[in-house]
Amino acid sequence: MFSKDTVVGVIGSGAMGSGIAQVAAMAGHKVIIYDSNEAAIEKSKSNLNNLLKKLLEKQKLTEQAATEISQKLYFSKSFNSFSECGIIIEAIVENLEVKQKVFSEAEKIVSENCILATNTSSLSIASVASSCKKNSRVLGIHFFNPAHIMPLVEIIPSLSTDASIVTETKKLIDSWGKLTVIAKDTPGFIVNRIARPYYGEAIRIYEEGFADFQTIDWAMKEIGGFKMGPFELMDFIGNDVNYKVTETVWEQFFYDTRYKPSLTQKRLFESGRFGKKSGRGYYDYSEEAVNPEPQKDKELGEKIFLRILSMLINEAVDAFYLNVASKEDIDLAMTKGVNYPKGLLKWCDQIGIDKIYNQLKNLQDEYGEDRYRPSVLMKRMESKGEKFFT
Ligand SMILES: NC(=O)c1ccc[n+]([C@@H]2O[C@H](COP(=O)([O-])OP(=O)(O)OC[C@H]3O[C@@H](n4cnc5c(N)ncnc54)[C@H](O)[C@@H]3O)[C@@H](O)[C@H]2O)c1
Repeated sequence: MFSKDTVVGVIGSGAMGSGIAQVAAMAGHKVIIYDSNEAAIEKSKSNLNNLLKKLLEKQKLTEQAATEISQKLYFSKSFNSFSECGIIIEAIVENLEVKQKVFSEAEKIVSENCILATNTSSLSIASVASSCKKNSRVLGIHFFNPAHIMPLVEIIPSLSTDASIVTETKKLIDSWGKLTVIAKDTPGFIVNRIARPYYGEAIRIYEEGFADFQTIDWAMKEIGGFKMGPFELMDFIGNDVNYKVTETVWEQFFYDTRYKPSLTQKRLFESGRFGKKSGRGYYDYSEEAVNPEPQKDKELGEKIFLRILSMLINEAVDAFYLNVASKEDIDLAMTKGVNYPKGLLKWCDQIGIDKIYNQLKNLQDEYGEDRYRPSVLMKRMESKGEKFFT
């Protein structure tokens, strides 16, 4: 279905669209990038040129390769240029109505066999595909930010996507040097679903006054081996973006309390304390700022780490139980999509499912909240002393 001659279309030349275009061009494809905003196209052009220059300086590309790649990138102000594309990846604003309109417009121009993909982070693929006449050719291809660096890509078929299209698209994205996982069309797919407690449980611990945020960050890095603590990471992602994803996942799960957003994060968002990009989030990023030191108490750190990790593992186990993805893909997604130090299911095997289960049961008994309910699969496996991997 696809070859190096397949022309790739990218709709939206923002952060994600530009990164995806670069990946496809570096893999040898002619790429046509379209954006409704001329300024966005100019910005994307100059960002891509700068990136190629940097790669050249670092000797990661030869001069000839850099020229060839830039000659493969075509910027277009018209939708009509998509008629020669074999696949189109949409990366425009995260708004269902706007995406649906773009998909139905694209379908009028593209060839009968052109595949239409969306890079949406939080909308259902079924809802985007519903705007197309031939919805069997629509699927999700979810890159992570920055798309040219992060190795993981989630491939998400909707209920209507043709199976052969999933197989061929996976092969294509693999050939671009990415690691692909297949995810069911459910809220947050794999990574954005399973990662929720990394933020939510950390905020809960902070709200309770059990520990301050710098101590929670210290515990997750020092004891857990995570590259960034939850609060640092939320400040990096942006508390506006992270709050929105949490809210969307919660709404799409029909308000399951396990995904309930926190008032702390909402107030930060409302106050414009978005994090690094606004100069202030949980931490102060101004030059003269002196941020508070963590309380380096190992016993406290162990408690924080086990509580957050148990919630993450529970989410991974439940996603596996509900067939969101295979256990191999779940572990790959969390290590390659958000750089977790270990796959969560493997981690569960190493620590012992009984320890994780008991931690969750204790929290559930103490708080009386459904938020801490262990996955039924964890309960069953714990009673039989089973492991995920041999
Ligand atoms: N930023 C992330 O971390 C990230 C990660 C994974 C997926 N995503 C998803 O990727 C998509 C794009 O995100 P982004 O961060 O690149 O956004 P962005 O704001 O950087 O870029 C969006 C671009 O789409 C253009 N656009 C808007 N409406 C359009 C239309 N009707 N036709 C053509 N162009 C249009 C805008 O001009 C803009 O240049 C969203 O669906 C987002 O959820 C984002």
